[in-house]
Amino acid sequence: MLMKNWIKLASASGLLIASAVFQFFPQAAIAAGPDASHFPNVELITQDGKKVHFYDDMIKGKIVVIDMIYTSCEYACPLETARLAQVQKKLGPRVGSDILFYSISIDPQHDTPEVLKSYMEKFHVGPGWTFLTGKKADIDFLSKRLGLYSDPSINKDGHLPHLLIGNEATGQWIRGSALDTPSFQARMIGDFLDNFKHSNLAEQKSTTDGRPLENFDQGQYLFGRQCIACHTIGHGESIGPDLLGVTQARSRQWLLRMIQKPEQLLDEKDPIATALFKKYNGVRMPNTSVSDLEANYIIGYIEAQTAARRQGIHR
Ligand code: HEC
Repeated sequence: MLMKNWIKLASASGLLIASAVFQFFPQAAIAAGPDASHFPNVELITQDGKKVHFYDDMIKGKIVVIDMIYTSCEYACPLETARLAQVQKKLGPRVGSDILFYSISIDPQHDTPEVLKSYMEKFHVGPGWTFLTGKKADIDFLSKRLGLYSDPSINKDGHLPHLLIGNEATGQWIRGSALDTPSFQARMIGDFLDNFKHSNLAEQKSTTDGRPLENFDQGQYLFGRQCIACHTIGHGESIGPDLLGVTQARSRQWLLRMIQKPEQLLDEKDPIATALFKKYNGVRMPNTSVSDLEANYIIGYIEAQTAARRQGIHR
């Protein structure tokens, strides 16, 4: 029973992880000033009726979580907001001090500041989370630029539940799914903040071209998002094998194929993959569309974790 639930959970997260994309913004001249080049500085209005500018007032030098909603949405959005409210609770006072949450309405004609305010009350939205409305054309432009725009005919909701987490100062942006479990989201956002805190601010400032930072562990992020539902590194078997030491036990080429195209290895009757498949009760290692770069980050992370654990054990 427990196992069944796990598999359900794993395959559900398998669906969502496909939407985990690292999104780095192309250079484009939009707002005034050298640092504002990535982002539109459109005017928005908060639930309290206050005018703000997207770049100057909302994101410049800040760490933010952004999603697009509309208050009359009936399908996924209420869940999206309810989950984010739980994430806010889990992160506690960090929201409002270390990180700001923004929900921007894609139906600004209907979602006046008053409507937004009563929506926030319904969902027990706490401090540090602002709801915004504005001109439809500005918001469409903004959502396209942020990679949060979806064609209104895409589903019954008329939009996809994306969540954008970013650090404007470092140019680090991650797009996740707003429908991930609140604990997962809170951990992802927490890790994002901790990575920021533990690293050298001066170094981060130098990365202004939108490239990922060296010291942000992409491997850890990807592993946490795409693999942890089924694998541990040194904490025993789960749905799949413990990956401690796997980078030494297998060749790199085999590992890359196993991570990127596991179905091919099975189709080819690769002896190791076939034996593992039998051992793990016919649960298939899924193809989660891992790119070459991502696979290398993940392998690097497994290697580093293996080394760290071995050092810990021998100490
Ligand atoms: C839905 C569960 C699931 C997910 C998610 C998953 N795996 Fe697996 N993985 C398995 C199973 C089960 C096996 C055993 C082989 C089989 O049954 O196909 C396996 C096998 C492996 C192996 C081979 C282990 C060995 O001993 O040689 C590696 C490496 C691996 N997975 C890495 C990953 C990585 C990296 C990710 C994330 C990108 C990932 N897996 C995501 C279930 C999963």
